Amino acid sequence: MLVVLNNKCNFEKESFKKYIKELNKITTANEVVLCPSNIFLSDVKLKRKFLGSQDVSKNSSGSYTGEVSAKQLKSINVDYCIVGHSERRLNNRETNEDINLKIKELLKYNITPILCTGEAKDERLNNKTKSVIKKELQACLKNIDKKEKVIISYEPLWAIGTDDIPTSSEIEEVIVCIKDILPNNRVLYGGSVTEENIKELNKTNLIDGYLLGRVSLYPKRVKKLLEEIK
Ligand code: PGA
Repeated sequence: MLVVLNNKCNFEKESFKKYIKELNKITTANEVVLCPSNIFLSDVKLKRKFLGSQDVSKNSSGSYTGEVSAKQLKSINVDYCIVGHSERRLNNRETNEDINLKIKELLKYNITPILCTGEAKDERLNNKTKSVIKKELQACLKNIDKKEKVIISYEPLWAIGTDDIPTSSEIEEVIVCIKDILPNNRVLYGGSVTEENIKELNKTNLIDGYLLGRVSLYPKRVKKLLEEIK
């Protein structure tokens, strides 16, 4: 299983040092990717874990104040990068076209994109979940070879940061739909995953892994969760 830890905009220098010390004590057969704040990417020393970024610029280099490019990420050994997280789509008005350009940049530099996709609550209530996801995947992966190892993370917007999660069968239905389009890609689930609900979620053998937000900030909880899915 692949477990992505999305720290979002959390930790400062000292608290991050303590966090890494604890995180590095965890041993697991699962593949763990840590996505810390950009400021920590270049000097974090991870044991048995991979390094990921939470976002990337759609441009390779040049006059783009505040941006970090795929080329720069590669130069500090970043292997994975989250793209299209709903918080960026909402707060930064990121479009599917922007995300498509970002994925192309990442692939150019051999960084594995973790593409987030998911429906809003009203879309689910109106039976539009599958059509929203198909549309997002088509647009975000436009002109990208199906053989590319893009990881998809199914993240219903209404489940992120809310403690409200879809049932296992609702998740399964969406994963089947994603795997119909992309049979060879790994598909994760993200949105209020905890060490408590992981057992139930993991009964679905279609899920290839999980993306954790809040729980990622607590190494003890991460450890418990990893133990449940070994
Ligand atoms: P959460 O975040 O685990 O805090 O709900 C998940 C996410 O942002 O994908």
